[in-house]
This record gives sequence, structure tokens and C-alpha cells, in this order.
Amino acid sequence: MEKFVIRGGRPLRGEVTVSGAKNAALAIIPAAILSQDICRIENLPVSISDVSHMMKTLRHIGAQVRLINANTIEIDARAVNSFVISHDMTKFLRASYYFIGALLGRFGRAKVAMPGGCYLGPRPIDQHIKGFEALGADVSIEDNAIVDAHADRLIGSPVYLDVVSVGATVNILLAAVKAEGMTVIENAAKEPHIVDLANFLNSMGADVRGAGTDTIKIRGVEKMHGCTYSIIPDQIEAGTFMVAAAATFGNVLIKNVIPKHLESISSKLVECGAQVEEFDDAVRVSLDHRPGHCSIKTMPHPGFPTDMQPQMAVLLALAQGTSYINEGIWSNRFRYAEQLNRMGANIKVEGQLAVVQGVEALRGAPVKADDLRAGAAMLIAGCAATGTTEIEEILHIDRGYENVVEKFAALGADIRRIRFPDNDAAHAV
Ligand code: EPU
Repeated sequence: MEKFVIRGGRPLRGEVTVSGAKNAALAIIPAAILSQDICRIENLPVSISDVSHMMKTLRHIGAQVRLINANTIEIDARAVNSFVISHDMTKFLRASYYFIGALLGRFGRAKVAMPGGCYLGPRPIDQHIKGFEALGADVSIEDNAIVDAHADRLIGSPVYLDVVSVGATVNILLAAVKAEGMTVIENAAKEPHIVDLANFLNSMGADVRGAGTDTIKIRGVEKMHGCTYSIIPDQIEAGTFMVAAAATFGNVLIKNVIPKHLESISSKLVECGAQVEEFDDAVRVSLDHRPGHCSIKTMPHPGFPTDMQPQMAVLLALAQGTSYINEGIWSNRFRYAEQLNRMGANIKVEGQLAVVQGVEALRGAPVKADDLRAGAAMLIAGCAATGTTEIEEILHIDRGYENVVEKFAALGADIRRIRFPDNDAAHAV
């Protein structure tokens, strides 16, 4: 097993380049099987484990995946020959269920085991199923474990989502692009990665309009073709470095970002007293005094992203005064509070509300990454704290942050990846 060991208390300074967006990549990879052709995908965070699992799944169903360079792959979907994906493939991540929509679009049939992924509370898929059924698919769930969907013909149809769901919006889009006629998704998710997926599908010959608004219209096309496509920068990785810069009283230029995607994060940092300078494709964040408190409520885009909530909590834990964090998406996203409290934070959680009483400093402690973004919060806290922090269960962090040790170290953090229990220094990176 591996852990991160951080000797904190050093301000992060310098420049960091953000990788391609994980959550866009996880939708775009399965989307590539909708054409019987070759898609070249650039700016892909190839080395994060969620992406490697998706590439493995592609190979499992017959696609050829070729690594062109560190961030570019080619997916040749001509030989895809199976609509069955077993639990071995899906247990690692949520997004494996995007193969249901993609396989339905490709073959009119999908038999895909229920997905794994971070535990953030119950993660139902009723809206996905509602969408597939609206398009004319028969969907059953065998033994509570395998989703079996099939349709002789997929027919475009209106679908109203009862909750704004990123996953359901993606899955319905994937199934609808080759359906006959027009599908209209109402109350659709508007996240940047939804827009990126729609742009990718359109580059393959699909006719998707309105992505980024509440209403997405998809006119089905008969055939799709290959394309070359570059994935957008990762909004959440960028936000993580923005908060890390502020929480360590540092000054960091975060490059390869779309500042518009970061507005909700920038405005909260400014509210806490940080300086945020926007450039065309970069932001600089600095803070040279103790942050002020502020309150946040997580909401679907363009609201404050739930995937930035744990990281922001670290800054608020160090703020003057009391902050309130209201989690509006997931019912179990405060597990990190217990870990931060071990480092001297004062966070009380009551249901969906966390009350954060700011403290002057955090101190290093042994902690764990309960999930991906909780892990990101531990990284920031470890860099900001005095003394040494050891973070276990870092496999969660490796799911979504590319070259994380190298990136933090280049900003001046004293961070190492260590194998344990042997603590063999030879394995330190
Ligand atoms: N929901 C339903 N029914 C459904 C689908 C969702 O009730 O059929 C509910 C969920 O229980 C939740 C809310 O709707 O309360 C929103 O869920 P959503 O479907 O939007 O989440 P998701 O697609 O499972 C994606 C990201 C998450 C991110 C959420 C919210 C991917 C692969 N995952 O999850 O990212 O937290 O959207 O923005 O895109 C992460 O990257 O760390 C991460 C967890």
C-alpha cells in the first residue's frame, strides 16, 4: 500500500499546469464507441486510475486503444464486439455506467454490472433508467446487480429529469444521439463536462444543441464518424490548486484553465480575502493574511461545485470566525471533517450542514482519504499544517489527480509517496 507523507507549513509558490477534465474524459471515452471509426482524444489525463479503468473496459469489449503520447490516445472502435461488461470492470468507478448509454446507442443492447465509485451517500440510477425507457428501451436489473437494457429501435422522446443529474444527462445523451428523431432533455445538468461531451459528439457527426442550458435537444443521426478532440481543463483540479495556494498563504499561477468555469470558486476565495487574477487561460491566486469566513452551499453548475466542498472546508477551517457549509447534492460528503478535526480543525456536522469554527493553525496528523475530494482536502490540509501529515488510502486521490506528487512538489510542497508497511525508502517518489 502507499501513503503520502507531507511536511507542511511551506507556502505554495510557482506555476502549475492543470490536466484534462476527469469527468469529461470519463464520458468521452465510452462515447467513442458510437462510431465505427477511430477517435483521437487529446489532453486526456491518461495516468489517473479512473481513466485507465475506462480504457481497460474499452479493450474488454473489443476496442483497440493506442497510447500516442502521455496525454493522447486513439480509440479504434471498429472491432467492438460485446455489449456485456462484468462487475470486475465496473466495480472501480461510477462512470462505468456510461457504457450502458453508449452500448445502447451502438448495439441497441447493454448488459452492464452496477457501478462502484466513491461513497457519497445513496447513488440511485432511476433517472438514467427513466431516460432509456423514454427512448423505448426495456430495462431490467438482474439480482440488483446487472443492468440489462435493450431496444429494437431507439426513438427520440422528451425526457424530464426529476433531479438535475450529471450522470443521467450523459447517459441519455449517449443513448439518444443515434435514436430516430428528436430527444429533448429538460432539467438537464449544465456542468462544463456536459458541454464538452456534446462538443465531442458533434465532432463525431451528432446533432446536439443546447448543452450548458437546462434544455438539450438531440436530433438522432444514422452514422457517426471518427474525430480528433481535445478535452477541456479540469475545473476541480484547478479549484484544488486555487484553494491550496490560499490555504498555504502562497501565490500560484494555475495554467491551462477556463476562468469562466472557475467563477463560483474564485468568488468564494475573494470573499475570504484571497486575491484572484484572471488571464485568458490561467488564474493567479494568492493570500497573505488569515482568511475571513464565508458560507457556501453546493449546487449543480453554475452553483458552487460539491466536488470543491471538502477542499474549501480546509480554508474555512483556518478562517477568522464561523463559516457554514451546506451540502446540497450528496447526503454523505462530510466524512473528511473527522480527519480535519484530528488535525486541530473545529468542524461540527449536523446532517447536511457543517459548522466550521476557524482555528489559527492546523497541525500534522495521520489521516486518510475517505474519497477522492476528501483526499484532496487532506493534501491541502497537510501542506498548510505545521508538522508532518501522513495520508492513507491515497488510491482515492490517484483516481482523479494526475501527477499529484510532482505537481505539489514543483510548487514547493515537501511531499513523498511512500510504500508501507515496509516504509522502504527505495519506493519513495
Ligand atoms: N440522482 C438521483 N437519481 C439518479 C441520478 C442521480 O436521485 O438517477 C441524485 C444523486 O443521488 C445526487 C444528485 O442526483 O443526489 C446528483 O447526482 P449526479 O447524477 O449529478 O452525480 P453523478 O453523475 O453520479 C457526477 C460526478 C461527481 C459529482 C456529481 C455532482 C462524474 C463521473 N461524477 O456524479 O464527481 O460529485 O456529478 O456534480 O462525473 C468526483 O469527481 O469526485 C465526483 C464524485
